Amino acid sequence: MKKTICLTAFSLLMIAGKVEAQNSKVGLPIYKNPKAPIEERVKDLLSKMTIEEKAGQLNQISGRFLTGPSTEDSSEKKKVQDLKKGKIGSFLNIIGAKKTEEMQKVAVEQTRLGIPLLFAFDVIHGFKTIFPIPLAEACSWDLKQAEKNASIAAREAAAAGLHWTFAPMCDITNDPRWGRIMEGVGEDPYYGSLISAARVRGFQGNLNDTAHILACIKHYAVYGAVEEGREYNLVDISRVMLWNKYLPPYKAAVDAGAATLMNSFNVFEGVPTSGSKYLVTDVLKNKWGFKGFLVSDWGAFGEMINHGYAADKKDATQKALNAGSMMDMESRIVINFLPELVKEGRVSMATVDAAVWPILYYKFKLGLFENPYKFSNEEREKKELFTDANIAEARKAGDASIVLLKNDNVVLPIRKNSKVALIGYYANKNADVLDRWPGQGDTAKVVNLYNGLTNKLGSSLVGFTDGYKDDGTTSDSLLQQALETANNADVILVNIGISGKLAGECQSLANPIIPDGQVQLIKALQKTGKPIVALVSAGRPLILTQINDLVSSILYCWHLGTETGNCIADVVVGDYNPSAKTVVSFPYSVGQIPVYYNHFNTGRPNTNHGDGGFTSRFRDIPNEPLYPFGFGLSYTTFKYDSLRISNQNITKKDKLHVKVNVSNTGKMDGEEVVQLYIWDKTASIIRPVKELKGFKKILLKAGETKEVEFTLTDKELSFYDADGNTRLEAGAFKVFVGANSRDVLEKDFTLQ
Ligand code: NOJ
Repeated sequence: MKKTICLTAFSLLMIAGKVEAQNSKVGLPIYKNPKAPIEERVKDLLSKMTIEEKAGQLNQISGRFLTGPSTEDSSEKKKVQDLKKGKIGSFLNIIGAKKTEEMQKVAVEQTRLGIPLLFAFDVIHGFKTIFPIPLAEACSWDLKQAEKNASIAAREAAAAGLHWTFAPMCDITNDPRWGRIMEGVGEDPYYGSLISAARVRGFQGNLNDTAHILACIKHYAVYGAVEEGREYNLVDISRVMLWNKYLPPYKAAVDAGAATLMNSFNVFEGVPTSGSKYLVTDVLKNKWGFKGFLVSDWGAFGEMINHGYAADKKDATQKALNAGSMMDMESRIVINFLPELVKEGRVSMATVDAAVWPILYYKFKLGLFENPYKFSNEEREKKELFTDANIAEARKAGDASIVLLKNDNVVLPIRKNSKVALIGYYANKNADVLDRWPGQGDTAKVVNLYNGLTNKLGSSLVGFTDGYKDDGTTSDSLLQQALETANNADVILVNIGISGKLAGECQSLANPIIPDGQVQLIKALQKTGKPIVALVSAGRPLILTQINDLVSSILYCWHLGTETGNCIADVVVGDYNPSAKTVVSFPYSVGQIPVYYNHFNTGRPNTNHGDGGFTSRFRDIPNEPLYPFGFGLSYTTFKYDSLRISNQNITKKDKLHVKVNVSNTGKMDGEEVVQLYIWDKTASIIRPVKELKGFKKILLKAGETKEVEFTLTDKELSFYDADGNTRLEAGAFKVFVGANSRDVLEKDFTLQ
């Protein structure tokens, strides 16, 4: 092994020597030689840079204050002046082939070293073709589709001059008050890891063409645990929680090769994450071997002053860089204070070089030194965006993201000749369909629910009225109109929930509930005696308790992007048989938040329901959520039986084979997400009562039975201690298999 490393280093030196010799003949510096290894080019370029130019590479400026608060002078003129002085290494929020090319030209042609810029943008769930919000996409349990969605988003963004997206968000959360729950992976670390990795693969591919872009794992770390679900708020959790619940998705995304990562806004153990040597250097770089670069969240370096961790901007710069953080997004402090800090010996040149190195590396890797304009291509931009093929994928993804939560008396799917009353303010307002991370999605081109239904059924079969107002209230006249519309129909489709404008950054809600006016509307509609189907649109799991018993069916539609209406119509009429399962619990009431399936037993678990005993429970509501993690119905029915395991006693080296029979007992073909959970019953650190450790999405024809097999190994049976070491401990386990985290079959086994 040692020998190989020496040889490799030696051959690199040889190559570098040869390259230097060749270059000196033609007078080309190594960094400009496309044939030289990237490592040598970076080294050469670094050796030629002043500290001011290095600080420039660590400075990221926003083109527009689209996605954060404004700071200093942001005029175009000032930006170009700074750019010419080599003071900017990257822009966010400058979009489009023409504009990016224009700025790139300044960087390449009018700076001393001609280092190209990186252009970044929040391409969260699509660029021009907008896919379901990430939380909805995750409910499809279709990793291939998630990867494909990300690759289409990347292809479109790359054609518009972008090199880099601030996605995927890998934050685990169980708080629907937090507006950013829409952007993530849900509440489970195992599934969150798989889908985060799939998204990274989709965005990045091999980073060797103009169809992929750099991914950015965010928000590192534990941003999903903000108290009260309030944006930018405090996080205070243990290291055991950190390692077992929150870190796995970031780690999986690192392992999938993500090029970049974003420091979050919050603190961990009282230290802002941008200044956390533990998170950035000890864990990310040393333990996980992350070789890419970090960018702070917007202004996060400077915000260390507000947190009370840094005395001033200079102190904040020192603390961020010495913790191992790198690029400064919009604090505008590294550019001003780093040179001074280096001169004073408070930040070493080695630290600065370590920060600049990976940024330059990825600029070389993307081929920007050879062709700085390769991503800014107006022709491709015209051709690649919002194509029929991309829109078709968005529809597939949307169909597969809608969760059927309830379907009494099999009201759904409706017959295609049914007369429907579509009631709901948002159903016919494009402006409310897309969320706060709409990319460059064009609201005018969104298919809203009304359009989707009329596309499917024809306008003569669809009556429409608002039923409630934008603010969630209703009025006598709106209710009257709703009743009239409903009286003319066979079935009532009521589109309730909240606007897409309330999904995303800074959209925390203390009461993630169905607004009062909508509840009133449903109560009024009940008087018709006609079946009511609730089509709920929201970027979070709203509390449905108030309407749950008032309606026959509930389709949870989230925010589905460009093809919203067509997707919902597909499901309503049964052209698509729902196959999604929720990746977040639906709380029973606000006071229950956070509620999640992978909770821990207390010393007094709530096993004796209703005996008034001294157990851990609420006196006014159940402990359980209204709908549990993993839950989702189909238009057909599935039966699970004959759970069997290969052995009741296994050693640490053995594999445990787990088999179950799943049958489609209904009359329609359907897909089912078969889920496997474990419980490590006694451990040196307590373990959740259920942890997802496997799933399979299978297609079963009506009447068909399939045997589904899972394999458990030491990997699935281990957990992390507080230092991030894995532990595999002997003892009693349970394995569960079922259709969701609540309805399962179970078997016991022992690990010796
Ligand atoms: C702040 C958000 O927290 C982050 O997710 C986003 O990428 C940046 N702004 C840039 O827009």
